[in-house]
Amino acid sequence: MSEITLLGYGNQGKAWAKNLRDSGWIVKVSGRPESEGGTSQREAASDGFATIDFHALRSDTSPLACLVPDECIPEIYAAILGPGVDRAPRPFLFAHGFSVVYGGMEFHDGDDVILCAPKGVGVMLRRLYTEGSGVMAVLGVEQDASGNAWDTALAVGKGLGCDRVGIIDSSFAEETNADLLSEQAILCGGLPRILDRSVKFLVRKGVHPKLATFECLNEMKLIVDMMVERGVYGMFRDVSNTAKFGGLRAADYLLPDLETDARLEGLWQDIVDGKFAKEFFEEKDNGFPRSQLGMERYRDHIADQNLNLLKKNED
Ligand SMILES: NC(=O)c1ccc[n+]([C@@H]2O[C@H](COP(=O)([O-])OP(=O)(O)OC[C@H]3O[C@@H](n4cnc5c(N)ncnc54)[C@H](OP(=O)(O)O)[C@@H]3O)[C@@H](O)[C@H]2O)c1
Repeated sequence: MSEITLLGYGNQGKAWAKNLRDSGWIVKVSGRPESEGGTSQREAASDGFATIDFHALRSDTSPLACLVPDECIPEIYAAILGPGVDRAPRPFLFAHGFSVVYGGMEFHDGDDVILCAPKGVGVMLRRLYTEGSGVMAVLGVEQDASGNAWDTALAVGKGLGCDRVGIIDSSFAEETNADLLSEQAILCGGLPRILDRSVKFLVRKGVHPKLATFECLNEMKLIVDMMVERGVYGMFRDVSNTAKFGGLRAADYLLPDLETDARLEGLWQDIVDGKFAKEFFEEKDNGFPRSQLGMERYRDHIADQNLNLLKKNED
């Protein structure tokens, strides 16, 4: 039976712990001491997991999955396990490559440094596992001191249930840069922004907020589901001629190819030059003021308020 230690019991930590345990792994959970604000050990213990003291991680030799926020990983690693700390070599696993690629982390020569990045939030990782499915995972190896790093990556990916849907063989840099670009350009950048502007615009033009929300948000999910199922071309084949013609015409107006490519190039350069990472670590050190300000745009959003209305109507 395989053993693993998880540092952090949050979004990913809870799903990793439960999926791996159900797949036959022996799981221990660690986290900051309660005196420093940590909750992982207490929560994991109440869910029936063995726990391991934060500072005892130095003498533990099981593979260690670093499941704390990306911006905290380099600091925590340096303090407890990093260069200069007297400890045995061990495999380290990461659910996203950011801290390794941009966090300046230095490992011992004998460590394995492994990426096992499930492409889904923890809640879905757990829910789909219990339903007999899973989310896909991106695996990679940065340092293979044992010669078994890839096998460890695969075993963990399998234990999480990710092999049920798909494993992509990649690298820390490729996963990190692709993940950052897609979340900045589309998932958490472009999509919420175009949704926000469009819903507010329609409401200003007198459209009922409930209808504006349905047209812009609920229908977005239906279209995305169609694209995932049938492909982008397949989606266009199945929408009305009006939607097809109007959509293609509007895309040229809103997001012309050359300008869009130039903007993507700008985002990409900020990512690969480390400019984004530098700003992000500064943002963390300052207490996330820019993130909080940016979130204000979406506070009490018309769409959020009208989603509840839609749910009530569905009932
Ligand atoms: N969100 C997702 O579902 C998701 C999806 C794919 C990949 N990932 C990756 O998974 C990793 C973990 O992300 P997550 O979303 O699971 O983390 P998270 O839920 O935000 O935090 C996990 C744990 O980190 C500790 N923690 C929180 N804030 C901290 C701080 N300021 N300093 C030190 N420790 C802190 C807490 O444990 P203690 O209180 O015990 O210290 C917490 O339980 C990241 O690499 C992330 O990119 C996440």
